[in-house]
Amino acid sequence: MKISVLGATGVMGSSVISTALQNGHVVKNKVSSKDRIEDLFSDTEVIIDFSSSIATESMLLYATDNKKTIPIIIGTTGLSKFHDELIEKYSEFAPVFRSPNMSVAVSILNIAVYMLSQALGDDFDAEIFEKHHRLKKDAPSGTALMLGKTIAKARGHDFLDMANFVRYGVVAPRKRGEIGFSIQRCGNAVGEHRVNFVGASEEIVISHNAFSRKIFADGAIKVAPWIKNQKPGLYSMHDYTRAMILPVVQSMCEYFFESNIYAEA
Ligand SMILES: NC(=O)c1ccc[n+]([C@@H]2O[C@H](COP(=O)([O-])OP(=O)(O)OC[C@H]3O[C@@H](n4cnc5c(N)ncnc54)[C@H](OP(=O)(O)O)[C@@H]3O)[C@@H](O)[C@H]2O)c1
Repeated sequence: MKISVLGATGVMGSSVISTALQNGHVVKNKVSSKDRIEDLFSDTEVIIDFSSSIATESMLLYATDNKKTIPIIIGTTGLSKFHDELIEKYSEFAPVFRSPNMSVAVSILNIAVYMLSQALGDDFDAEIFEKHHRLKKDAPSGTALMLGKTIAKARGHDFLDMANFVRYGVVAPRKRGEIGFSIQRCGNAVGEHRVNFVGASEEIVISHNAFSRKIFADGAIKVAPWIKNQKPGLYSMHDYTRAMILPVVQSMCEYFFESNIYAEA
């Protein structure tokens, strides 16, 4: 496939370029802050973006103003509501894949978090921890925000009503349904996320630890041929993993609810 990369000189962009080449793709255009955004759209089948909010914004404005239809994969995080609207608008004309975390395993973790949040309910306090390298520009991470939104959604709450990003000095008692965030920025940490569900006398902890940034580049490169064949619209990692997840849910229901596992034990 012919691929263009936005953020080509960055840590993620460089990893995407080498992963694309290793997988037999052709990297047609490499764009960073010194290049012209329009070059991204020249003779390419998909654009992969790991850059900054300003760069993502320029790309989307150029694409929409010039009626482009090239599929875009957006990995950039720290985007605002304005960027959400730009993404929605371009997705009317082209397939857009957006994920704050390109790891397929994190998408599965997100599904598990939904299930735990709904099944345990507000009697279990949910707390999210994330740790990233010292150069990361946005906080909390896009993945931590995604997990928070998943918890709120599963419990029927508004995310921003429940999110607590700051605890300092004299703090109010924890509100029922509150979702607390704690953040570390240090060293070269690739990305660690953890959700604690804490009840009165017991706790469930679920976490993901990325050992290498290559998992994100691998995810974006796996998605590239798939997104190219989709209709215009906005897609997430859950759309990509759908075919993998549905049989798991079905077999889980069969195992736990349609057979008597305790009788078999
Ligand atoms: N979705 C995921 O799975 C995932 C995983 C890891 C990271 N990320 C996100 O990906 C983004 C990039 O991360 P990174 O660690 O690769 O950052 P980075 O090393 O700082 O690289 C940023 C890249 O963006 C380019 N850039 C910045 N401003 C630009 C502009 N105005 N126009 C064009 N290009 C511009 C930079 O070009 P110059 O070198 O010319 O400045 C550089 O190539 C961040 O938002 C990060 O949170 C997402």
